[in-house]
Amino acid sequence: MKVTIVGSGFVGQTTAMRVLQKGLAEVVLTDIVEGLPQGLALDMKESAPVERFEPLITGTNDYAATAGSDVVVITAGFPRQPGMSRMDLLAKNAAIIRGVVGEIAPSSPDAILIVVTNPLDEMTALAADVSGFPKERVMGMAGVLDSARLRYFIAEELGVSPLVVEAMTLGSHGDAMVALPRHATVDGRPLPELTDEATLERLFQRTRDGGAEIVGLLKKGSAYYAPSASVAKMIEAIAGGTDEVLPVCAWATGHYGIRDTYVGVPVRLGAGGVREIVELDLNDDELAALRQAADGIRAKCEDLAKL
Ligand SMILES: NC(=O)c1ccc[n+]([C@@H]2O[C@H](COP(=O)([O-])OP(=O)(O)OC[C@H]3O[C@@H](n4cnc5c(N)ncnc54)[C@H](O)[C@@H]3O)[C@@H](O)[C@H]2O)c1
Repeated sequence: MKVTIVGSGFVGQTTAMRVLQKGLAEVVLTDIVEGLPQGLALDMKESAPVERFEPLITGTNDYAATAGSDVVVITAGFPRQPGMSRMDLLAKNAAIIRGVVGEIAPSSPDAILIVVTNPLDEMTALAADVSGFPKERVMGMAGVLDSARLRYFIAEELGVSPLVVEAMTLGSHGDAMVALPRHATVDGRPLPELTDEATLERLFQRTRDGGAEIVGLLKKGSAYYAPSASVAKMIEAIAGGTDEVLPVCAWATGHYGIRDTYVGVPVRLGAGGVREIVELDLNDDELAALRQAADGIRAKCEDLAKL
């Protein structure tokens, strides 16, 4: 597998390192800043003898080296600063996505695109439009991250290991995130049996605000360890053809009553990209929240088309 990572900032470089250390693929790391991807790639290669992985990474500012990629992860763009919403990044990052996808798509026509740049759902839809790729090969990373945050917060609250907590979030990456308490388990036990509704709501809200909490603490830039772990998880499913069910920003064509929009849904992820959208048993409130998230994304995409 050849994985290109566009953008060598915090998310891009940590994703590259994780992919290398897991031995998932050969990596091409790019950026517009001269020397940055080259320097990072050299530094990673020098860690190979100690960490014991094959140093299969190229750092470059030239798109020629990305040709024939199997997966392209797009992290290029501005992150949030304290007080900013992800939507504040819309116009600036849309211009970057248009440029990047315009460069990448012609020479990697069979690639799977994983968009990370915010605002996530809208940038994923834009990447699909600009590339013209089949929708099952264009997706966004947000649900794996939001779910991981929720799983960690549940574990912290209940004093258990995050490894025994399962939970999934759907909808959009932001205020319209949909948490599914009925589907969450701790050591196999349903979450609602283990805590009260007010606590659940507090944990869900902390998850919705999870990115902002870290932006507020860092003061400069946004989260990257959990985001890069989430991207690597998606690449692992694609590279290994695992068909694992993960929450991914994917193109819905009638699933959950949602048509023709990108939205966070559970998908079977494997060779070739999104193999299938999995329809969980949602109650009326959960369905309504998911549809509302999809309506919000659609409206923002319409705004974006006018920019
Ligand atoms: N989807 C998610 O869950 C999630 C999580 C974390 C961060 N993000 C988003 O990911 C993006 C990157 O975050 P980061 O922390 O790595 O930011 P960063 O500022 O550390 O890195 C961004 C990099 O993109 C590069 N870049 C800018 N324009 C480019 C272009 N046209 N071509 C190639 N490279 C270009 C910059 O030079 C910089 O190195 C942000 O938009 C952030 O909001 C999303």
